[in-house]
Amino acid sequence: MKKLILGMLVLSFTSMQAWSQNMLVLHPEKAETTINKNIYGHFSEHLGTCIYGGIYVGEDSDIPNVDGYRLDVVDALKELKVPVLRWPGGCFADTYHWKDGIGSKEDRPSIVNVHWGGVTEDNSFGTHEFLNLCELIGTDAYLSINVGSGTVREATEWVEYVTSNNKSPMTELRKKNGRKEPWDVKFWGIGNETWGCGGDMRPEYYADIYRHYAGYVRGEGFQKVAVGPSSGDYNWTEKVMAGLRGKYHLVQGLSLHHYTLPTGNWGDKGSSTDFGEEMWFKTLKNTMVIEELIEKHLEIMDKYDPRGNVSLVVDEWGTWYDPLPGSNPGFLQQQNTVRDAVLAGINLNIFNNHAGRISMANIAQIVNVLQAMILTDGPEMVKTPTYHVFKMYNVHQDATLIPGDLLTEDYEYEGEKIPALTSSASIKDGVTNITLSNANPDKTISLECYVGDEKYKSVTGQIVTSEKITDRNDFGENEKVKIENFDVEKPKDGNMLVEIPAHSVVLIQLQ
Ligand code: AHR
Repeated sequence: MKKLILGMLVLSFTSMQAWSQNMLVLHPEKAETTINKNIYGHFSEHLGTCIYGGIYVGEDSDIPNVDGYRLDVVDALKELKVPVLRWPGGCFADTYHWKDGIGSKEDRPSIVNVHWGGVTEDNSFGTHEFLNLCELIGTDAYLSINVGSGTVREATEWVEYVTSNNKSPMTELRKKNGRKEPWDVKFWGIGNETWGCGGDMRPEYYADIYRHYAGYVRGEGFQKVAVGPSSGDYNWTEKVMAGLRGKYHLVQGLSLHHYTLPTGNWGDKGSSTDFGEEMWFKTLKNTMVIEELIEKHLEIMDKYDPRGNVSLVVDEWGTWYDPLPGSNPGFLQQQNTVRDAVLAGINLNIFNNHAGRISMANIAQIVNVLQAMILTDGPEMVKTPTYHVFKMYNVHQDATLIPGDLLTEDYEYEGEKIPALTSSASIKDGVTNITLSNANPDKTISLECYVGDEKYKSVTGQIVTSEKITDRNDFGENEKVKIENFDVEKPKDGNMLVEIPAHSVVLIQLQ
């Protein structure tokens, strides 16, 4: 029977091939892997106006707030269904001493934020403020421990302060500071970019340091994440995995950081708003590399850990452009266009399709920094095109991945090419969700989808796109890039033809 179904699928695939260049064949019979909702995770750092001004304005602010958190941002984040939020950095985390950020605000010391613009950090947003925010917006917390300039004692005390129910100096201190019950923190990262801003270590040295810290970071109900590679640094993965071999009670995740720069050059990355087809193409080409990075790092991880005890945690990803003209270069402020929307769709499709080994991903960063969901300017707030793609893709959170075979034409630009379409699909509560992105800036692509024999009663669609590839949402203007309805015809005999507009991201739901 199984053979017959497979044979029919192959037949259907082959007969479609005769008349269509673009085909997606879903395999609902192979749906078994859960897409961890944390793939839709976010990252917040004490950097520029991510925290101060963006999330937290203080109780005395004229900007409407609850306990100092801006109401507009809180509402937008609740609507987004943020599953997990990483904090306090980034590079900032390895200069952060958590005890500076607890207790009465007047007594908290001010420090210099050495990595990000040399501005004063008054520590008014600390552990309580962050963890209470997570509770307010219904998200899990992912805390990054200071390894670069911290101590093992500082780390163990932080974990005790936050998570312990026992009587101890740290839990007493927490109670004195107004919090009786521990918080439920599900993830602790041990260091950040220890190959760079977090201590400039060699991988062999970091693997030992990791074992040292992780052995003392004790507790139940949370996972520990080791610092993994930057982009294609396979040597780092080799050495760290070799150093942690067999120590799987100490490590559950290995991070990967990969940023997309249009030019691929850190000196002159490219503008977030002012670009033509050349930079559009290069940006999308550079982002698609992440699939190869994921597969190659996983290959190395599987060599040392064939049972897959350690999962991949892509805890920093997204676009990194030149700072907006006139902004503080240390604040990493950029705008967000249709290009970022399509890029987010591509990355999220890739992560979904590797859900068996990717347990979390955190786009950088949630508000006002890099590829942000939300931008604020004083009392004003806008939701970016990336926000809308995340919102549309939320249907995949904790859904079961439906594997698919995608045949796509290329999008060619000046002799170079990339796949025009990317896709992923899942099923949850009886609803089949298919997400697609079209990287071609000018061409509508017809896609033949084979969705299986199920008799669907309804088909609905949503789309994020806009007239121009540079369109964005800006302060004081009508929202140009947002989720809109998208017409799709019901499948006939399991086949469905979808016309995917140029430079768009689409969701199709079958029920
Ligand atoms: O997200 C901005 C910075 O990029 C982070 O602080 C650091 O981890 C990475 O280099």
